[in-house]
Amino acid sequence: MHDLVIRGARVVTGTDVAQMDIGILDGRIATLGEGLVGAEVVEAAGLIAMPGGIDSHVHISQPSGPGIEMADDFASASAAAACGGNTTILPFCLPEEGQSLRAAMAVYLAKAEGQCHVDFGVHLIVHRTDAQTLGQDLPALLEAGHTSFKVFMTYKGLALSDRQILDVMAVAERHGAMVMVHAENEDAIEFLRDRAESSGQIAPLYHANTRPVAVEREAVHRAITLAEIARVPLTIVHVSNGEALDEIRRARARGAQVFAETCPQYLTLTAADLDRSGFEGAKYVCSPPPRDEAEQRACWAGIERGDFELYSSDHCPFRFADPAGKDAPGARASFRNIPNGIPGIETRLPILFSEGVGKGRISLQRFAQITATNHARLYGLAARKGSIRVGADADIVLWDPNLCRPIRQADLHHGADYTPWEGFEVTGWPVATFLRGHAIMRDGELTGRAPAGRLQQRATPDTLL
Ligand code: URP
Ligand code: ZN
Ligand code: ZN
Repeated sequence: MHDLVIRGARVVTGTDVAQMDIGILDGRIATLGEGLVGAEVVEAAGLIAMPGGIDSHVHISQPSGPGIEMADDFASASAAAACGGNTTILPFCLPEEGQSLRAAMAVYLAKAEGQCHVDFGVHLIVHRTDAQTLGQDLPALLEAGHTSFKVFMTYKGLALSDRQILDVMAVAERHGAMVMVHAENEDAIEFLRDRAESSGQIAPLYHANTRPVAVEREAVHRAITLAEIARVPLTIVHVSNGEALDEIRRARARGAQVFAETCPQYLTLTAADLDRSGFEGAKYVCSPPPRDEAEQRACWAGIERGDFELYSSDHCPFRFADPAGKDAPGARASFRNIPNGIPGIETRLPILFSEGVGKGRISLQRFAQITATNHARLYGLAARKGSIRVGADADIVLWDPNLCRPIRQADLHHGADYTPWEGFEVTGWPVATFLRGHAIMRDGELTGRAPAGRLQQRATPDTLL
């Protein structure tokens, strides 16, 4: 007897796609088979059962500069995550000015307390290399189960020098952590930005023009080289183009342990979106910027070949009609002042399902790998998360592959006041999300269950994908 049986869905497991029942007991998958009996039964014939999505790259309540505020807190971001078919999220903890990494983590975890509708882990952002950060705080947090961190090669106040990156990587090497890198060359961007502004090029489009493919390609090459020198595995996040991906492919061919992530914006948007009339282009300002159709094709080719282990949202929401968001002071006078980032936590999975699975580019199993399984393995969650198998947490999403409707801001649950994908037609939507065996979303809406997401103690990365 199970607490819950999900009956008759096509179930996507690590080895198979087959019609079967899923028997759930005490929040875990207890049985995969036929004719299972449960206290509660969900009839799922005609639906697809997938592992709950893991979005391992989201920004929630992150300090964003004076007067600027992210549009989501844990409650709204995780509601949107659940409604978009996710059961685990990994946001970033960034210390405030003068705050230690450990103090920042304590404050950040308090923000999540009792607010999060899905399970979560927290990556660190390391933007200082003082003795306390590298000698005490970072080691303590890595040992406490926060086993991954991000470093930046761009953004004033966040970017580290090559030496600093090597020093941080040395800590990762000692503790078996995963280093994530935002690879864009800050000096080159600053040069291009100054030149653009001095010739009056101030509109949102120039955000894209001053962060060309070359600044990403160079930084990807350099980041991988540093990781090879420090002997650590590396994840290149938000890869936006074919040349950066070629650097990754070449590095792998010589034996480097490098993993790659891409995001919906690099598969479906272009720099032309930043050139929309008036200030509309600000809605699409993110870094790296969306490129052109040739680069979209290169990213799709990478997805199809299996070059990308990870597909994440890089959800980084700011309200559009808001001086604390995209319409920040000075934003209309120069693209430089527009907060970087776009919302996408709820639309990540439907976009890939529709454009990837629906259009025959990837299989259901590949979808599960790049949206859940690989995230669990690379970020130390694989003991419980990321696949439908006996013993795992019953984090399951039911998909209706035939449900057809456009993405509309009016239907979404995030705190932003727009979606970059307004009107984008999608076939295939998640219709039910189960977190550890409890329904948290049905038919696109939260079920009303109190937020029960738990902080996950994470293991060291499993890099043998
Ligand atoms: O523009 C973006 N992607 N903002 C979020 C922060 C980051 O770099 O990932
Ligand atoms: Zn980044
Ligand atoms: Zn990001």
